[in-house]
Amino acid sequence: MVMREIQVADQSLVVFELDDLCDSVTGRALTGAWVWDSALVLAEWLAAAQDQLEFSLRGKSVIELGAGAGLPGLAAALLGASRVVLTDVGALIPGLRKNVEANGLGDRVEVSELVWGSDESVGELGEFELVLMSDVFFDAEDMAALAKTLRKVCKRGTRIWAASEGRPWTGECLNELEKEGFGIVELASELAPLVGAKEESDSVSLYSLIPPYVGDNVIAVGVSEFVTNMEPNNYE
Ligand SMILES: C[S@@+](CC[C@H](N)C(=O)[O-])C[C@H]1O[C@@H](n2cnc3c(N)ncnc32)[C@H](O)[C@@H]1O
Repeated sequence: MVMREIQVADQSLVVFELDDLCDSVTGRALTGAWVWDSALVLAEWLAAAQDQLEFSLRGKSVIELGAGAGLPGLAAALLGASRVVLTDVGALIPGLRKNVEANGLGDRVEVSELVWGSDESVGELGEFELVLMSDVFFDAEDMAALAKTLRKVCKRGTRIWAASEGRPWTGECLNELEKEGFGIVELASELAPLVGAKEESDSVSLYSLIPPYVGDNVIAVGVSEFVTNMEPNNYE
């Protein structure tokens, strides 16, 4: 187990990475056991949005899907969100709980098993004002299930912010989400200075997803001037 101390704005978070955690069926390492660069960028983006884009997390309800070690969701809580739910597959839940406790955020942060597309837990969680996802655009075949979950946790005005490393299959995943009716806006490279000069921000893109049924959804108040392309439709 590795303990990392990660700076978010002028505060710091402790995150444990469980590098010895494997899937009980496949024996493969669970990808969510450690912090990916996208999570660092998304956490930094939250701090920047708060500071420079007049987007306040104060009092917001936030859910993180495929949270892994939970850095972006923990950062949202640190920055003032009043309710944060970190979700992932069952094997990662104890690690997420440990990270919540390590930061003394148990009064604001819940942890819940949530497999995309499953109706079991998601129905009880409710709807959220902000959805966070970092590095979950891996398998295009999972995107219909992810879209189903997104539709359940979103309400009018919900913002969905995602960070993803650019990989050959990232575009395929985004195209699948578009087919499910989500608008996808890549936040422009002008945003890079807002997420600092860290090396990882070079390979990571930030996206705002617009839920399909919310025609007048404002994607990101204070961010829209940075948007490169309002109607991208091919990420290949
Ligand atoms: C590459 S890891 C990213 C982890 C973390 N968000 C980060 O950026 O550090 C992808 C995460 O998505 C989760 N995930 C993948 N498929 C999922 C599914 N069908 N339902 C729920 N979570 C899933 C994995 O368990 C893993 O935690």
